[in-house]
Parts: sequence; structure tokens; C-alpha cells
Amino acid sequence: HDDGTSVTGKGGPKDNRLTENEASNTLTTRQGHPIKNNQSTRTVGNRGPATLENYQFIEKVSHFDRERIPERVVHARGAGAHGYFETYGKVGDEPVSKYTRAKVFQDAGKKTPVFVRFSTVMHGNHSPETLRDPRGFAVKFYTEEGNWDLVGNNLKVFFIRDAIKFPDFVHAFKPDPVTNIQDSERQFDFLSNTPEALHMITLTWSPWGIPANYRQMQGSGVNTYKWVNKEGKAVLIKYHWEPKQGIKNLTQKEADEIQKVNFNHATQDLYEAIERGDYPEWELYVQMMSDDEHPELNFDPLDDTKIWPKEQFPWLPVGKMVLNKNPENYFAEVEQAAFGTGVLVDGLDFSDDKMLQGRTFSYSDTQRYRVGANYLQLPINAPKKHVATNQQGGMMEYEVDTSGQENPHINYEPSNIGGLKEYADDDKAYTPHIEGNLVRETIDRENNYEQAGNAYREFDDVERDDLISNLVNALSHCRSDIQEKMIEHFTKCDEDYGRRVKEGLEKHKNMTSKGDQAVKEAEQKGHKTDSY
Ligand code: HEM
Repeated sequence: HDDGTSVTGKGGPKDNRLTENEASNTLTTRQGHPIKNNQSTRTVGNRGPATLENYQFIEKVSHFDRERIPERVVHARGAGAHGYFETYGKVGDEPVSKYTRAKVFQDAGKKTPVFVRFSTVMHGNHSPETLRDPRGFAVKFYTEEGNWDLVGNNLKVFFIRDAIKFPDFVHAFKPDPVTNIQDSERQFDFLSNTPEALHMITLTWSPWGIPANYRQMQGSGVNTYKWVNKEGKAVLIKYHWEPKQGIKNLTQKEADEIQKVNFNHATQDLYEAIERGDYPEWELYVQMMSDDEHPELNFDPLDDTKIWPKEQFPWLPVGKMVLNKNPENYFAEVEQAAFGTGVLVDGLDFSDDKMLQGRTFSYSDTQRYRVGANYLQLPINAPKKHVATNQQGGMMEYEVDTSGQENPHINYEPSNIGGLKEYADDDKAYTPHIEGNLVRETIDRENNYEQAGNAYREFDDVERDDLISNLVNALSHCRSDIQEKMIEHFTKCDEDYGRRVKEGLEKHKNMTSKGDQAVKEAEQKGHKTDSY
């Protein structure tokens, strides 16, 4: 994978598997044996039985039996593409080096290869791409200093602000463990007890919860990160991707129309745009704050249920990204890609955002299970630079990190004899001072309703009407105590918001559920027939 794009490993320095057959299209086993008959199992007589020494059959079918790896516990359905990031060398009008020493941002015009995976969140690998859900927007930058992953969503906030709540949040949104049916009562049962979710609920049940496709949506790092400069000074940072294609969302009705005819419209849209040379682009912006608690704000800068208002914290452009190459193989690249919030380079750092810290454990943990202990040796995940560790072994080890070293016997450090050595540079280490009691507590400035109310008021009429209609529809399937609790929350965001949901539900109560009715009618109409 020396040119950085091949996933087959062809032409890689250690790969000689294909040299003999390179020009040939002869079918072989994985042992390299040419296959003379791929149509018939080897049997005793042409009516069987089969024999157990049939290596060709057993290799083929037993590999097929293992074609799947566990799907991602969330974000299982995705689409990916390769491209590059080009830095402006500046943040707004200032040199970027004033705030970060990360090399990926230095030297205007420098290009860094990237791989991006877009996704839906809650449903399985082949679920419709029209469903109401946040969309994942994960970018792997193969920088000269090693990989940097910016694992974001299309929306700028999230449902919860403490990572310990994530498994419960996901369980409430996934199907019932007994019936395997996804149910809005489970979702709003959890959400009605989670007031910090109101901002995200308001966005998700509006047309912003169904982006029209992956090319016409924004991206956001959501969590708060840091930048660190050469002097070891840090600032707080939020990242945002803005699509040059514009932003387009769907009302529920528009999404239903697409879903009737196409389950894959977003993957198809991305793939076909790149094939015809219509390469999608996004500009990367950051918002910046000094690295402190900001008691003057009515929200906590480390709270991922809040946006940082644009007027106070302007979006500063830092570069652009172009996606210009489709994957050669979906499984090898898109399915096996592994992104994580812990994957940062020097000059980029974590903040104390509790969600970010919880996420940082979760991603690489799940990937060691989902893809395997050596997931970082796969071409899609490996950095496009020299790797030299003393890690070894594990299932499916593909290459030895110390191979090519002067003394490959020394797989430990420190050593007088040889082996790998630590890196030395002149940059000042970033050493924040942290002090406090160990506690289990929520943050002080929760302010759960104000920004949700702002979002409601800022929507245009189509967005607001669709939000109310979608919430009424979802809540109509819930117990009345859950409905009442939600109306109370909406009213705290904005009186009109609460009133409209309440009135919608009252109106709905007097009608049978149209959706259920339509499904029953369709089932009754189904074509009955005799047995064959
Ligand atoms: C995927 C955990 C919150 C964005 C995943 C995966 C896990 C996970 C386990 C599957 C990864 C894999 O199998 O490779 C968590 C936890 C969270 C959290 C524990 C909260 C504490 C968020 C938030 C965002 C986000 C707030 C958005 C900023 C993503 C994306 C993916 C993902 C984009 C898909 C990555 C890909 O395309 O492979 N998350 N997540 N997650 N998560 Fe989260």
C-alpha cells in the first residue's frame, strides 16, 4: 500500500502473491492452485455422495461462511470515499501556527490524503438511508505525523453529555429486546427523562434529521477539542465541515417518496457523483475559545448539547476537503475502516468534555473486537508513513513493525544493543494542571432548554411544521405520562412549541392511527393464493 490508495496490496514491497498470475485471469484457490471445475463438487458418481478431502469446495464454502465480521454496534450502514484535505495555512486571517503546531495545517496548499465514511446510526447494515437519524461524518487524515481521525456527525450537538449514558440511549433507540421492533415509546420514555436531549430532539425530528444525501450535508466534530502551539499553549476548538454543494434536508413526506423506490439513495448519490467526476467538497472551519471555564457564558464550553453561537465565536476557515476516488472494495475499505476520537496528532489535543473522553475509550475497544487486534495493520487503517513499534503477534498479524530495523532481535526499549529509540523534539509539552474531588455529578450550567428554543424559533415554517407533525406522530404511540412529560419539556423551550405538540396530540387522539390503519389495510389487500 505504498501509494496510499491500493487496498489489494499489489505492488507493495513485501507482496509477491500475484507475480506469477499477474497477467492472467485464471481462477485459483487461496493456495494458488488453478481451478479446473468451479461448477461441480467432487462426488462419488454424479449423484453423490461428496467426499471430505474436497479442499477446493471446503476452502470456498468455509471462507464464505466467514464473510461477515460483527457489524458496528452503531453506525452500521455507511458509504465511503477517498480524497484529500488542503490546508490554507491560516486560521481566518492569522497564521495557523499561532494556535497549533499540527503539521497537517501548516504550509498553505499542502495536501493530505483522507478517507471519509458517512453513515446512519441506529439501524443495521442494509437499512434504508432515508431514516430519521443523525448522519455520521468520520474523516481519517493520513498526515505526515501519523493518522488523525475527526469522528463527527452532521448535526452540531448530541443527545447526552455524559458517556456513561450512551449504552442506555442506544438501547432505547434500537429495537425492543423481546419483539425486535423499534418503538417510539421506548425512545421518548428515555428522552422524557433526559432533558439535555431537547436541543438534539428539536433538530432530529425536523427535516435536519433526514439529510437529502451525504454530499449536501454539514459535518461537525460535536465535541470540544484543543489546539496546542509550539510554546505549549492551548485553545479550545470546535470543528465544522460546510458542503460547497449546499445543504439539503428532507421532510418526512419527501423521504417516504424516496424510500418507496430506493433503499440506497445516499450511497448511490455519492458513488455516482465521484464516478462522473463531480467531486464533492467541504470547507473546514474552526471556532475558538480561550482554554478556561468561561463563567460569563450561560452554557459550559465542554457541553456537547450546546452550539457555540456563531456571532460570539466566528467560524474561521482552515482548509478544504475534496473526495475524488471511490473505494476499490467496499468490505476492505468502508466496512473495515476504524475511526476513533483518540487518534490525534501532536498539536491537537483532548478537552475535558466527558463525552469525548468516554468515546475515546469506546472506539478502539470495539474495533479490537469488531475487526481484530491487528486492525491497524489493514491498509485502510494504517498510517501512510513509517510505523515502528515493539508490539507483536495477535491474530492475523500481517507484518512485523520492527522488520527492516538494523537489529530486529531487539523488540524492547530501552536497550544498549539497538532497537527503536524515542523521538526528540524542541516543542514544549502541553501540561495542563488538573485539580478537584473525584465525584459523580452533572455539570453546573445545564441550561437544557434555551438553545432548543432558539433552534425552534430559527426554523422556517416548513421546518417547524414538519417538526411538530413528526413529533406528534412519534408521541402518539407513547403512553400519556410520556406525552405529558415531553409537552412540559417543549413548553420550557418555547411556549408555542409545547402548545402545538399538545394540540396536535389532542387532535390525533380523536382519529385512529393513520399509519397503523394503512398497514392493516395493505395487509388485508395482500394477494391470497392456493398452495403450490
Ligand atoms: C461509531 C461509540 C458518541 C460519531 C461508533 C461506534 C461506537 C461508538 C462503539 C462503532 C465504531 C466501530 O465499530 O468502528 C460512541 C460512544 C459515544 C458516541 C460511546 C458517546 C459516549 C458519538 C458522537 C458522535 C459519534 C457524539 C458525533 C460526534 C460516530 C461516528 C461513527 C461512530 C461518525 C461511525 C464511524 C465510522 O464511520 O466507522 N460510536 N459514540 N459518536 N460514532 Fe460514536
